[in-house]
This record gives sequence, C-alpha cells and structure tokens, in this order.
Amino acid sequence: MARCFVTRRLPGPALDRLGRLHDVDVWPERLPPSYAQLCRRAADADGLLSLLSDRVDAALIAGSPRLRAISNYAVGYDNVDLQAAAARRIPVGNTPDVLTDSTADLAFALLLAAARGLSSAAASVRDGDWVTWDPALHLDYDVHGATLGIIGGGRIGQAVARRAEGFSMTVLIAGRAGPTPLAELLERSDFVSIHCPLTAGTRHLIDAAALARMRDTAILINTARGPIVDQRALVAALHDGTIAGAALDVTDPEPPAPGDPLLAAPHLLLVPHIGSATHATRERMADLAVENLIAALAGRPMPNAVGVR
Ligand code: DGY
Repeated sequence: MARCFVTRRLPGPALDRLGRLHDVDVWPERLPPSYAQLCRRAADADGLLSLLSDRVDAALIAGSPRLRAISNYAVGYDNVDLQAAAARRIPVGNTPDVLTDSTADLAFALLLAAARGLSSAAASVRDGDWVTWDPALHLDYDVHGATLGIIGGGRIGQAVARRAEGFSMTVLIAGRAGPTPLAELLERSDFVSIHCPLTAGTRHLIDAAALARMRDTAILINTARGPIVDQRALVAALHDGTIAGAALDVTDPEPPAPGDPLLAAPHLLLVPHIGSATHATRERMADLAVENLIAALAGRPMPNAVGVR
C-alpha cells in the first residue's frame, strides 16, 4: 500500500477507488494548501494528485524522496516542473480529452455573452433600467458570419472551430495545426480565442503589440491560461478602446487580488476558471487522474502521461 497525497476533495467516486488500494491523505479545506503545507504533505508521499493551482516545482520534488507518481487534475500541466520530475524518473499524468467539449462550450458561451453584452444587459434589468424597448439600446456585435481567430489548433481549439461552423463563421487558426500567421489572424479576426498551452514561448504571447494589431471592434476570449495574455496591456487596451472587449476564464494570478486593475476594466466579462466545470466532466477528470496514479504506483505506464516539452 502506497501513501498518496491528494490536494483537494474531488467530485465523484474516483477517490474512493484510490482509497481501497492505497493510504490516501486528502487535503480537507476549501482553500488549497500553502506551498509550505504542500511540500510538507508531499514529503512522505509515494503519489501526489495535484491541482493546476498547486506549484509542483523542483524544490518540492527534491524534498519528496519517496515520490514516484505525479498526477495533475487538469489537461494543462504548466504548474509541474517536468524536467525535475523526469530527472527523478517520476511519471507525470494529466486529464486530456474528457474536458475538451466542456471547455469549448464555455469558450463559445463567453464569446456569445461578450459579443451580445449579456452581463451588462442583464444587470441593467436588475438595476431597473428597462423602461422601454429602445432601438439604440444595448447594441453589440453579431457572431454569425463573423471571423473567429483561434490561437492553438489542438483538441479544444478544434472543438471551438466546430461550434463556429454552426454560426457560419470564418475560422482562422494559428499554431502548430493552423496555417494562419498570428499577426494576420489578429488583424482579420472579429473574435480571438486562445487555446494554446502556457509555455515559455506563449507567455505574454498577447502583449501590447498583439493587442494593437487587433481590430477596435474585436473581442478577446481566453479559456487557456492567464499568463498567455499580458494582463496589464489588456487592461490598458480595454480602457483606451484598442479592442472592444474581453471575456476571460483565466487570469494572472488566479484569483486576481482585491484591487487588481483587471477587476475595474471596462467591457470585461470575467468568470472563475470554470472551463471544465460540469458535474460529468469533473468526475471524468477525477477518474483519469486516479487511473494515472494507480497505474504508476503499480509500476505500469500512466494511461495519460505527459512528456517533457
Ligand atoms: C485544465 O484542465 O487545464 C483546465 O484549465 C481546467 O479544467
């Protein structure tokens, strides 16, 4: 029986399955363990089941001599130091595929909501501002027939592209799977949706220069990782009308600190990293994360292992 540290309770029955095989320590709080607490609890663990908000870095790995499996409850794994894990031959796993459609749904929901100003329109009703039908009230942007630029043509980007077909949109894709140069995509798109992983090469990919290339009627959607966008540049672009709006599921940091200028930016729809947040998807992610851990602790390859980028 191995010792596993699981950094948060997970939806569904997967952790019960893990508990039948191993000694499982589940962090019981709503807020995550601090980095120091994470290191302490991982120090005598054989298996670690981490969340995207847990920093699993070289120091943590060095301080966890028994560790032989890291399973990240997310498709993204920018929070895990893959090199440090590989140097110790510790396999790292993630939870791909099962969240593709939920995340694409959310990206499209944000696109529609931002394009049609749903949050301000709904707020105006609550505030008593709906006094008559007005030909010039809440005029926003059409989605049907518009051009959607997708940055990152992987599974989630392609799922968003399929949804766009139903709205008769022209789709441009930049990235390994897409032929459109990023500069051209930014200049031609009415909506730009980010679906690439966070790496050294994509950090601040959308900076002030990239935002300046976008149309002043364009809307930026990010359901990938916050640091892909230079947030200070985005706030400035929203204030000075460089772009028409943004809809973000992810920020840098998460959550934004109280008083963060992002929270006061105009034309911004912000939701709390809920791309994969459906009952079914989060349960399936838990299944995959637990399967990865069980396999590695039994000396088998993880069904969803990630390699060093
Ligand atoms: C992921 O899995 O990487 C998403 O950001 C959260 O579901």
